[in-house]
Amino acid sequence: MSGKSKAPVVALVGSAGSADARGRPLRDLRISVMDRCNFRCPYCMPRETFHENYRFLPATARLSFEEILRLTRLFVAAGVCKVRLTGGEPLLRSGLADLVGELSAINGVDDLALTTNGVLLAQHAAKLKANGLRRVTVSLDSLDPAIFRKASGGFDGIQRVIDGIGAAREANLTPIKINAVVQRGLNDDSALELVERFRGTGVIVRFIEYMDVGNRNHWARDRVVPSLELKQRIESRWPLQVAAASYRGEVAERYTFTDGAGEVGFISSVSQPFCGDCTRARLSSEGVLYTCLFATHGTDLRGPLRAGATDEELLARIRGIWHERDDRYSEQRKALARQRSEKKIEMYYIGG
Ligand code: GTP
Ligand code: 5AD
Ligand code: SF4
Ligand code: SF4
Repeated sequence: MSGKSKAPVVALVGSAGSADARGRPLRDLRISVMDRCNFRCPYCMPRETFHENYRFLPATARLSFEEILRLTRLFVAAGVCKVRLTGGEPLLRSGLADLVGELSAINGVDDLALTTNGVLLAQHAAKLKANGLRRVTVSLDSLDPAIFRKASGGFDGIQRVIDGIGAAREANLTPIKINAVVQRGLNDDSALELVERFRGTGVIVRFIEYMDVGNRNHWARDRVVPSLELKQRIESRWPLQVAAASYRGEVAERYTFTDGAGEVGFISSVSQPFCGDCTRARLSSEGVLYTCLFATHGTDLRGPLRAGATDEELLARIRGIWHERDDRYSEQRKALARQRSEKKIEMYYIGG
C-alpha cells in the first residue's frame, strides 16, 4: 500500500493493531450514543442524583451520526473490529437504526451489537436487524416484577422488556444475551428463576458481579455475590461444564448445561479481574475517549474533530492514547479505591 494514498481511511488501515503499554491490542469500541436513560437503576443512575432536574447533555454536545461514523472508521483503522452501541439507553437516540445501517457498512466492522434495557426494543428490533445490527444484549436483573421494579429504580413495565426480548428473537438478533447485575439481598435469590426461564431457548443469561463503577452507587463489597457462589447454586440444580471462551479476552466465563439446554455466563470483574486481555476502548456520547471503565480521565476527540482536525491527526491521537494505556483498575481495585481522590466516570455516561 502506498504511504500517500488519496483514500485516507484505506491508507490508514495498513498500520492497524498496535498494542498498549501492557501489550493489549485495540479491538473493541463501545460507543455511548445517549447519556439519558428511561431507567434509574440505583447501581448506575441513582434517582437521588439523576432526578427530574438533572442536566443531561444538550443535543448539540452529543456526537452527530456523521461524527460517530468518522471516528468509528478511524478506530477501525487503529485496530477495532467489534463495535457495541450503548447508552444510557441507546434506543432513546432517535434514528439509531440509521446509524446502525451506516456503521454496519464500514469495512472492518465484523461484529455490531447493542446493549439495551429492552423497553423500546420491540418497536425497533426488525429495523435494527434489517439495517445490519447483528445481536443485542438486554439488561434484566430479575423476572420478579417487584424486584425488577427496585433494580430498575421504579420501572413498572417488565413485560415490555420481555416483549423486547421476544421481538429480538423473532428478528434473529442472535445470540441474545441477558445481563443481570447481582446484588446480595436484592436479586440474588431470583437468579435461578432467570436461568430456568431462558434455559433451552438459546438466550444466554450472564450474571455480572456488582461493581464499584462511578462514585454514586453506594457500592459495598458485601453486596457483591461472587460468581463462584452463584455458580454453585445454579449447578446444584442444573449441572454445568466449563466451556471455552468464544474469543480471546471474552469478558464472561461460559458454562454449558450438561443436559444440552444451552449456556450461562459469569462476569466476575470483582472476584476474578480480566484486565490482562482487555482490548476495549469507550467513547462517550460527547466524544471523550476512555481506556478503562473505571477511568478518572478521558481524552476529548470532539474538540479537535469540530476544529477541523484531519483524519491523520485524529488517528494519531487515538493511536497515541492507546499506546500509552496502562489501565488495569480491577486488578488494582483495593489499592486504587483507597488512593484515588479523583472521581471516576459514571457508568451511564459510557455505557458499561
Ligand atoms: P460480548 O461481545 O457479547 O461478549 O460482550 P461483552 O460481554 O464484552 O459486553 P457487555 O456489554 O455485554 O458486557 C457486559 C458487562 O460486563 C458490562 O455491562 C460491564 O458491566 C461488564 N464489562 C464489560 N466490559 C468490561 C470491562 O472492560 N471491564 C469491566 N470491569 N467490566 C466490563
Ligand atoms: N455493576 C455491574 N454492572 C453494571 N451495569 C451498570 N452498572 C453496573 C454496576 N455497578 C451494567 C448493566 C448493563 C450494562 C450497561 O452495565 O446491568 O447490563
Ligand atoms: Fe439505564 Fe442501563 Fe444504567 Fe440501568 S444500568 S440506569 S438501564 S443505563
Ligand atoms: Fe479493562 Fe479497566 Fe475493565 Fe480492567 S477494569 S477489564 S482495564 S475496562
